This record gives sequence, C-alpha cells and structure tokens, in this order.
Amino acid sequence: MLALSDVHTYYGESHVLQGITLSVSPGEVVTILGRNGMGKTTLMRSIIGFTPPRRGRVRFKGDDITRWPPYRMVERGMALVPQGRRVFASLTVRENLEVARHGQRGRWTLPRVLELFPRLGDRVQNRGNKLSGGEQQMLAIGRALMTDPDLLLMDEPTEGLAPLLVREVGRVIAELKREGLSILLVEQNLPLALSVADGVHILSRGQIVHSSRPAELMANEEVKSRFLGVA
Ligand SMILES: Nc1ncnc2c1ncn2[C@@H]1O[C@H](COP(=O)(O)OP(=O)(O)OP(=O)(O)O)[C@@H](O)[C@H]1O
Ligand SMILES: [Mg+2]
Repeated sequence: MLALSDVHTYYGESHVLQGITLSVSPGEVVTILGRNGMGKTTLMRSIIGFTPPRRGRVRFKGDDITRWPPYRMVERGMALVPQGRRVFASLTVRENLEVARHGQRGRWTLPRVLELFPRLGDRVQNRGNKLSGGEQQMLAIGRALMTDPDLLLMDEPTEGLAPLLVREVGRVIAELKREGLSILLVEQNLPLALSVADGVHILSRGQIVHSSRPAELMANEEVKSRFLGVA
C-alpha cells in the first residue's frame, strides 16, 4: 500500500527526517511512536506532499508519488487526519463533511459516517467551534473518510482527549481496520498504539530507532524508557 525508502526531509537547512524506510501492507495498522519534536508530523507531511522529501522515494499503490501535490495523493486514495484536528470552525458538521466528499466513488457517504459517529449525528447543524475536542476529532476522522481513502494517515488522534474518548478513538480505528482500511498512525498513547497496531516503529531525531511487533515492544523495558520515557 505504502512504501518509503530512505526519505530525507528538510525545513530550509534543517535536516529533520534522516533516511526513513518503512512500509504499510494492505489492511495493516502501522504505528509511529516517539517523543515530541522527533519528526512524526514531518513524516506525515512528507508522505502527503506538504513538505516533499528532498531525497528518497515514496510509493503508493504501485505509483512513485514522491513529489506529487497533495490533491493528487487524495485523488489516488490517501487521506490525512491532521494533528490538532483542524476542522473548519465556521462550518457546520454537515458542511465540514460535505466539503470533503469525493465525487461519486463513495463507499463512505454522509449517512455511513454518521453511523460510525452517532454523536456527530446529533450535531449535524452545529458549527465546528461549538464541538468538544472529542467531537472535533471524530469530525476530522469523518472528513478524511469522506474522501474515500484506502490509506489513512492519522496524526495523534487521541491528543488532549479524556480516557473515555481515547477508547472511543481506539474503537473507531479497530472498526476501520476491519473494513479493510490501511492506517499509518502516529500516537503517543502507548496502550492504544500497541492495542491496534500490527507493527510499530519508534522515531527519534528523524531516524527509526526501533521496529517490531507490538508485543515485543511491550516487553522491551529498555527501549520504552530510553525512547518513550515510559517507566
Ligand atoms: N515548519 C517548520 N519549520 C522549521 N522547523 C520545523 C517546522 N515544523 C517542525 N519543525 C521542526 O522539525 C522537528 C520535528 O517536528 P515535528 O513536528 O515533525 O515533530 P513531532 O514528532 O510531530 O512532534 P509532536 O509530538 O510535538 O507533534 C522539530 O525540531 C521541529 O521544531
Ligand atoms: Mg506532531
């Protein structure tokens, strides 16, 4: 579904991603862990094309998409749930979803998205800025689904959410996986990350310093304390 090889990304002269190689197979959830400022969002930006890699390759469903503009990535079936949700504050829930709809391709329609997120169904006429953090997160996920993706990039979807809502996001990720979606998930919530992932990578200073199955990371106290600050 997705394959990065030796990706290097810069902001000006600042060399942030330093040779990232990873892949996501169809139907897989791959999680990226790592402390603040290690390059997780830059990785997402490099894939979807906001900050294209200066060196290295990104392949998606058989195409070399390395320097494609973001709108073409979305047309090809990639969607981003950005860090901090970024819903349109002045648009209603319905409008936030409708602006993202991708033609008639639609496995994901408005009624289906509202079925996945019943709380949004009660708030279709509310504006984005009247929603709670959890509702905004659900809306950001729903908006991404409206583009009908095969690959979902999710950047810290549980950030700032109460435990109950973290579990709700976990339920949604598991359900999307059952639907066959491939997901690249950036998370700092270790229990959630490990519960949904098929594979995990830890990013530190722009490099992958650990890759394994979730169970192996769970058992590896040294790596957890060194790179994730988990006691
Ligand atoms: N637009 C930018 N211009 C210059 N430097 C940037 C820019 N965005 C991020 N950086 C720097 O790149 C590095 C990686 O940032 P990035 O946002 O990718 O980290 P992150 O792992 O997503 O962090 P967080 O967990 O806080 O979201 C940091 O040192 C950050 O200061
Ligand atoms: Mg980030």
